[in-house]
Amino acid sequence: EVPFHPARSHPAGPGGEYSYIHISKFRDPRRVSDFEKFCSETIGIIQPVLVLVTGDLTDAKTKDKLGSEQAEVEWQTYQLILKRSRVMEKTKWIDIKGNHDSFNIPHLDSIQNYYRKYSAWHKDGSFRYVHSTPFGNYSFICVDATLSPGPKRPYNFYGILNTSQMEELSSLATEGHHSNQTIWFGHYPTSTIISPSPGIRTVMSSATAYLCGHLHTLGGLMPVLHSRHPQGTLELELGDWMDNRKYRILAFDHDLLSFADLNFEEWPVILITNPKSLLYSSSAHEPLAKILHSTHIRILAFSPFFITSVKVSIDGVHLGHAHHVSGPLYVLKWNPQNYSEGLHHIHVMVQDVIGKSSTQGHTFAVDENLSLRFGFLSSFILLTDHYILARVLFGLTVLVQITLLLIFRYLQRPMLKGPPGLVKLTSFSLHVLSKTNTFYYSVLILSLYTALGPWFIGEVIDGQMGTCFSFGIFVGGHFLQGSLTFAVGIFQMVFFNLPLMAYLCWCLLLRCQGHSFCSHIRHVRRFVAVPIHLTMLVLLAWQVYSCYFLQRTYGTLAFFLSPMKTWLVMLTLVLIWKTWSLSSSELRTYMVELKNCQSS
Ligand SMILES: *[C@@H]1O[C@H](CO)[C@@H](O)[C@H](O)[C@H]1NC(C)=O
Ligand SMILES: *[C@@H]1O[C@H](CO)[C@@H](O)[C@H](O)[C@H]1NC(C)=O
Repeated sequence: EVPFHPARSHPAGPGGEYSYIHISKFRDPRRVSDFEKFCSETIGIIQPVLVLVTGDLTDAKTKDKLGSEQAEVEWQTYQLILKRSRVMEKTKWIDIKGNHDSFNIPHLDSIQNYYRKYSAWHKDGSFRYVHSTPFGNYSFICVDATLSPGPKRPYNFYGILNTSQMEELSSLATEGHHSNQTIWFGHYPTSTIISPSPGIRTVMSSATAYLCGHLHTLGGLMPVLHSRHPQGTLELELGDWMDNRKYRILAFDHDLLSFADLNFEEWPVILITNPKSLLYSSSAHEPLAKILHSTHIRILAFSPFFITSVKVSIDGVHLGHAHHVSGPLYVLKWNPQNYSEGLHHIHVMVQDVIGKSSTQGHTFAVDENLSLRFGFLSSFILLTDHYILARVLFGLTVLVQITLLLIFRYLQRPMLKGPPGLVKLTSFSLHVLSKTNTFYYSVLILSLYTALGPWFIGEVIDGQMGTCFSFGIFVGGHFLQGSLTFAVGIFQMVFFNLPLMAYLCWCLLLRCQGHSFCSHIRHVRRFVAVPIHLTMLVLLAWQVYSCYFLQRTYGTLAFFLSPMKTWLVMLTLVLIWKTWSLSSSELRTYMVELKNCQSS
């Protein structure tokens, strides 16, 4: 048997994937015209057998970017492009929902669920699609973790799977076991999916790769977000179409997966399918031994123009020009035995008739025992269950504040002796704050409330009132488990509740030193006092902005019914006012002691 012989070899594919089109009626019309060009020209050149669009077909944001709602015209535009470009006649087009496509949808049967009406796939929920070829069957399993009901942004950032959805996915995985290869795809990276035990990564462990979108490139910080699950499945996040015009091509060649992340309109496109990249190899899922027994280096090359040369080199040594077999396939004879030890680098340069050229290369190994690791940061972003991390951190910050208050409330205050340093003064002011009932109870209740109380009540979905807690959102008789809420809670604690407590302590300390609001401005060193007041002002301004944000996203009622925002702003003003209006008699013992100590 001679695997990888050019004459009897068909790459299974290529397939294509791309995500995050974000058709918007307000922003960037080129996003739409480029998308149409992609459907007609790029698809025409690459001729994939299958296209996966991993969600966020539309933008669904309001004009000020703060609110969100489904805009039928965006969906109509999407459908119009699919029809006008006839892309669905050229390839199998599978488009799934993203979080933007489920903003503000009370239930799946709602008329607002335009995905059902205007998408190519039409059906909600997870499914398996099998691509059958003469040389094998390839399963594509979709994970639909979008929320139903679908709240408006921003509390629609995480996907959730319930137990019955997980069971369904497990049975889809079982059905897929007879396929040569299985690919899973979905909108959310697994790190942003909340799933019951044993967890979504375990359920998809038979997949060679999981393809997803959602994170864009984290605003350009992480242009490449790829990693590998402990079970061996690759997780490949793809940058967005919206701003970066990213798309991806994939091919199975003799059941070895290869892919390339590409930019729209950058030609020629190159995909080296043999020898495949070592970083993306998985001995648990792929017959990697085939590389050793292969006879040819195999390359897919695409260009709108005639391709004139496909130059191949390994480890800097030019091996020759690959010759054209059929379609996009180019091959060059090689002897893998020459590379049986260690790591090697293959480099391919393709040139077309108008002189445009591009290069592609990767590290490969013929020795099956070698492997490479992914970078720490992308693994951390893709493989951590961030909602659990956020929950723990949030709990800890709340605990820290409450513990501080309790300790200083019930701890006997030591007499101040000697010149008071920063530590002594800090502890002194914490004693004053915790032992003054107004402040102690206000800050304690604020802290407990942040963890337990409803943050706001409002139109989480148009026409449906919802209540938001740190641990989740109740809306329309459903409970959506907390995730982003914990992160918001951490911000609230770290950038407001704790600084507010510190600020109150500082103000009280000034009072104990005998200052009034007016006198401290004159007597306290400016470079200390001004930044402290300014910082508090900025933090308070952020809270005020959050009130406005709440009004824009969840309606006027949410603005008024928001203990955690609008009421908190008022409470803060009252508390600050209280520090300066507190009668001196309440602070007398502290004042006397501080005075004695400072004059000693
Ligand atoms: C799980 O979610 C699906 C889709 O949202 C829903 O139809 C089903 O009733 C839910 N099942 C459970 C057990 O909550
Ligand atoms: C797909 O699987 C079948 C059955 O195991 C096998 O005969 C066939 O060679 C596989 N296809 C490829 C391309 O390896």
